[in-house]
This record gives sequence, structure tokens and C-alpha cells, in this order.
Amino acid sequence: MITKQQVEAFGSIETPFYFYDMDLLRQTLECYKAQIDKYGYNAHYALKANANDRIIDTIRSYGLGADCVSGNEVKLAVRSGFDPQKIVYAGVGKSDKEIKAALRAGIFSFNCESVPEIKIINDLAAGMGKRARISIRVNPDIDAHTHKYISTGLKENKFGISPWAFQEVAGLLSCCKNIEFLGLHFHVGSQITELPVFALLCRRIEELQRWFIEHEIPIRNLNLGGGLGINYQDPIGDPVAHFEDYFKLIHQNLVVRPGQNVHFEPGRALVGQCGHLISRVLYVKVGREKKFAILDAGMNDLIRPALYQAYHDIENLTSTGRKLRYDVVGPVCESSDCWGTRRMISACKRGDLFAIHSAGAYGQVMAMKYNQRDLAKAVYSDDLK
Ligand code: LLP
Repeated sequence: MITKQQVEAFGSIETPFYFYDMDLLRQTLECYKAQIDKYGYNAHYALKANANDRIIDTIRSYGLGADCVSGNEVKLAVRSGFDPQKIVYAGVGKSDKEIKAALRAGIFSFNCESVPEIKIINDLAAGMGKRARISIRVNPDIDAHTHKYISTGLKENKFGISPWAFQEVAGLLSCCKNIEFLGLHFHVGSQITELPVFALLCRRIEELQRWFIEHEIPIRNLNLGGGLGINYQDPIGDPVAHFEDYFKLIHQNLVVRPGQNVHFEPGRALVGQCGHLISRVLYVKVGREKKFAILDAGMNDLIRPALYQAYHDIENLTSTGRKLRYDVVGPVCESSDCWGTRRMISACKRGDLFAIHSAGAYGQVMAMKYNQRDLAKAVYSDDLK
């Protein structure tokens, strides 16, 4: 929750900007850490969710590793002090340059997404006199019941290797001398709020890992990826993701064999609720049928509503008066630059400060300069104290 004192401090800051509630981030990390420690699980923070320096420093200080999806993310993780032994690297299109850089960095595991990629990693590692540790990202053909753009575990999705190719994978593993096989990786989608999806994933993992064990290929690691959703509807009332329920369900449903390690790649659930996009009302345009509240923050600052029709809660921080119905829009020349239609919000006027909540994940990191707009800066609660 944004306090009165913080709103006062916002008065002298140029909008729009990202405001990070670092206390909430730490509280979320403490809850997360307590759960993974309870079950002896390992976690790699998905840098793609938010690569802001202070956010990733804080996350690293809790002992998490990093989950990367590009050579530059691997570089960033190393530069930020993540232990290379805790860095995993996924992605369907790793370039030779990226693979070599990750080999040089000595990362923990490449999560391989296709048969040809395994061969290329082996060849590049051989050329460098190295051995690459790899896991196979499996496409388990599971419906994550989330937006189609952030569903990744269905057979029509580009991600992962399908079970029908396991025989070919096994053949490669036995002949690729510069590869060390660690285990299986999964990530079936993001903003998953129906927990039974994860129970289904656990059951699929058991079926799939059996194939390897029956073929005498040991599975040392099981990586379940990320995907746990947050409450976009009620970010103030429900600010911390339901880690306890999630891990309890995983623990009850996942078959873990002696000596196996279990890994996760949380992104949104760690950082989503600690970030808010703070904006000012530029104009209130009263039409015959509706009222528009026109903000100075646009889709270039936070693209989720325009790209995924994502819902973000909107609050008038300046006034708590009577609520009226508004279409809240941004200044960018696109009709999809809309924060929400028919939203009930305390009556607003030019200059009022608005918060667009739950903007910590896939917000600042996906910002762009479309319309030649400036990139929104970050402000941290720790600096306002
Ligand atoms: N691991 C892998 C391999 C991933 O691809 C992702 C996210 C994660 C972990 C972290 O997932 P999370 O815990 O954050 O759900 N831009 C979209 C989300 C894209 C997610 C991409 N992959 C959005 O704004 O909703």
C-alpha cells in the first residue's frame, strides 16, 4: 500500500515514474525463502520480469540464483554478482555468440529447447575445450489456463522438446562428449492462478521422467520453471503471492527420487506487487457518453494492458472522494493505449496522482520509447524514508 507520506513525496517528482515498495519486496522474498527452505528447493529469479539493478540486488541478497533468456541477461546476472553456478539459461533461439558467452561464464545449466540446439552446444563447447551442463526443456502439452500469449506448455507452442523426440535426445546424449546431462526443465506459462495446473504438471513430470529412468538416463534435477500468478484485482488486499499453498501442492504432488534436486524460476510472483506506475492526470475530457481521465503514462511505459488486455488496478492517490466512472487512457497515439474502461475511481482533476498497481513484473523492463517518449525512471521507497 502506498502511504500518505509517500504520496506527499511524489508531489515533487516528475511523472510518470515507477515506484518500488522495497519493504513489500523484502516481505515477499522472506515468505518465498521460508517456503523453499522448508522443502529444500532451489530458486533462480527470472530476470526477464524485472532487471532493475536495485531489485535484482535485493533478490540476490536472499541467496537466489538467476534464470536468464538471453546472453545479455547472463552477462547482467554475472555482473550483478549472481553465482554462475546458480545461473540457468533458457530460450528457443540461443545464438552461437550467446552460447559461447554462457560457456565462458560457466553457468549451471543450459535449458535446451530443441534437438539441434543440444548438438550445437556440444560442438561449441568442444571448440572451447569445455563441458556444458544441460537440461532438456520438455514441452509437456499442458494447458495453463492463462492468456494465450503467455501460455508456453502446449504442443502448438514453440517452447521445449516434445516427448516424441526423447529417443533422438537419448541418442545425442550418449554421443555428445562435451555435454553433461542434468535433468528436465518445464515452464508451462505465466500468471497461472489455478493451482491444479501445477498438480497436473507434477503428474506429467513423473510420467516423463520415467521414460528417462527406464532408459537408464539418470535425472538429477527437476526444474519446474515459474508461472505462479498474483492478484491483479486486489493488489492492496492480497499483496503477497500464495507461496505456502503453491509449494505445499508441489510437495504433495511431485515425485522426487533420492538425490534429486528441485528447482524453480519465479518471476512475477516475486516482483509484481512491489512496483507501481505513478502518473498524473493531464486532462479530464467529459464526453456525452463517458468521461476520459487522460494520464501522462502510456503503453510505452507499461505495455501489458495493450498487449495482453491485462487488468491493472488503478487508484487515485490524491483523492479518496466519491467514485465516478472513467475510461482511463494514456497519451500515446494508439487506441489500445488504454489503462481501463468503465473504472470506478475517486473523482479526479488535472494534476491528481494516479497509481497503476501490480506493475513490478514485465513493466519497466518492457518499456520502450515509442512516440519518442522518455523512459520512466525508478523511485524506491527506501530513498523516501
Ligand atoms: N522461466 C521461463 C523459462 C520463462 O519463460 C518465464 C517467463 C519464467 C520462468 C518466469 O515466469 P513468471 O514466474 O514470471 O510467470 N510479459 C508477460 C509474461 C511473459 C513470461 C515469459 N516467461 C506478461 O507481462 O504477462
